[in-house]
Amino acid sequence: MKHLLSVTDAEDSIFEILEKAAEFKEDPIMGQPLKNKTLAMIFEKASTRTRVSFEVAMFHMGGSGLYLSADDLQLGRGEIIEDTARAMTRYVDGVMIRAKEHEDVLKFAEYSNVPVINGLTNKEHPCQALTDLLTIKEHKGTYKVKLVFVGDGNNVCNSLLLAAALVGMDMTAVCPAGYEPDAEIFEKAREYAKKSGSKIELTSDIQEGLEGADVIYTDVWVSMGDEAEASKREEDFKDYQVNMEFLKHAKEDAIVMHCLPAIRGQEITDEVINSPQSVIWDQAENRMHTQKAVLYNLLTTF
Ligand code: CP
Ligand code: NVA
Repeated sequence: MKHLLSVTDAEDSIFEILEKAAEFKEDPIMGQPLKNKTLAMIFEKASTRTRVSFEVAMFHMGGSGLYLSADDLQLGRGEIIEDTARAMTRYVDGVMIRAKEHEDVLKFAEYSNVPVINGLTNKEHPCQALTDLLTIKEHKGTYKVKLVFVGDGNNVCNSLLLAAALVGMDMTAVCPAGYEPDAEIFEKAREYAKKSGSKIELTSDIQEGLEGADVIYTDVWVSMGDEAEASKREEDFKDYQVNMEFLKHAKEDAIVMHCLPAIRGQEITDEVINSPQSVIWDQAENRMHTQKAVLYNLLTTF
């Protein structure tokens, strides 16, 4: 890969990255392949997992991560993305950006001299989706399962559609009307699915979508940036809460996933998060192992 801006950038290396992620889980240091390398980490939005896992990953691999809040950079005072990219990438070996607008990450990459990683935008969350494949493989032993995403067809759902289709996993997005995944991404995922032999579906019908589910996945109803629509969204999503009753529509041994942060009592109940079916904490841990594999892929060959 040159950059990881979308899951599509990992089209040819996805299995290699996932294998490497499992290796990093066994051996967190792996001879420090990023000795003396530096990753700039620009955040325009809040983060717990992405920030900590990338920073610790760089430290384990022998390098360092620089946390940069967009508000504290000249970006926050009107310096344009292109100029920020041109200057900053003269100092560092890679850049991770969490941005409000996906186009800004694409623009940064266009003017960057070094690999750029999308740490979440309004459109995609590729590091999360790659991680989720690792977690599913660990718990189910195969990628050949049915993943059902329930809720907002937003960044996490978009990246999961692409990732699932690339590895031959069936995926159904169960989204209320008006909250469907990005149409272009959905079509791209269907193209990948044709090649990998998986099924990519979309419905608003919970019972239909959950039938035969091996994995149930949800995300917040009000994503970062959607706060002004909070009350409308709470109303529109109210039937889509993942609770114990809801799980009965899926396979008995289905696992439950959530990218986190979770708003307990909204999209998911305490009972489900704490149930033996939940693999949410393994999923959070796996962010670090998977991102090490992504960093290894991008920064050791660069
Ligand atoms: N899942 C995820 O990206 O978490 P953070 O927002 O805490 O980084
Ligand atoms: N969809 C959520 C994911 C958070 C990791 C958001 O964009 O806020």
